[in-house]
Amino acid sequence: MMNAIPEPAVVRDDPAYREMSFRFREFGPGGLTASTLATHVELYRGYLAQANELIDAVADPALRRAAATVTRPRESASRRLSFELNGVKLHEWYFEQLVGQGGAAAPAPSSVAAEAMDVAFGGFDGWRADVAALAATRGIGWVVSGWDAPAGQLVNLWVDLHQLLLPAGHDVVFVLDLWEHAYWNDFGPKGRAAYAEFVLASTDWQVVEARFARGGEGGTRR
Ligand SMILES: [Fe+2]
Repeated sequence: MMNAIPEPAVVRDDPAYREMSFRFREFGPGGLTASTLATHVELYRGYLAQANELIDAVADPALRRAAATVTRPRESASRRLSFELNGVKLHEWYFEQLVGQGGAAAPAPSSVAAEAMDVAFGGFDGWRADVAALAATRGIGWVVSGWDAPAGQLVNLWVDLHQLLLPAGHDVVFVLDLWEHAYWNDFGPKGRAAYAEFVLASTDWQVVEARFARGGEGGTRR
């Protein structure tokens, strides 16, 4: 006989994920405009709403019981959940990189970030060139830099959509949104490379360094 699936111990009134607010720098001519960033945040809100709705949906006791027989509604909701959740998280990390005041052209030489880039790419310039090369990948998705702290390994990789090919056990330390909505208005359909260079030049490296510093505790988090 199949075991009964227990009801959740805690019933939440609040949404699982709350909206973050972002005060972007003014980038000036040749950079991302305020209207593009405002539209992008609007899109992020959509992922947030969808993720919260799905989390509530999959917590529904009837749907959880149905999961025992792997019915299509539960399976379908679960497959979509990573898309929506990563749509929230990746955008928050991307916006966070463009919010801080920055000032440094690269991670501090004494930082874990700089050391990891040295080991894996021969330095910041090598890491940066690799990110720029990956940004030319055909399709919509993200370039992600992932740090496996216990292994001391930094990898750059392409993530399709928001959730496909994201490696387990890596801290996401840098993200570059390469969906067309991220750059089309300001850089045009052929402006992908210029946009990637803009983000690399505009990233607050202290934000990136802090993500490395949190490594070694397991999992991918902000
Ligand atoms: Fe985006």
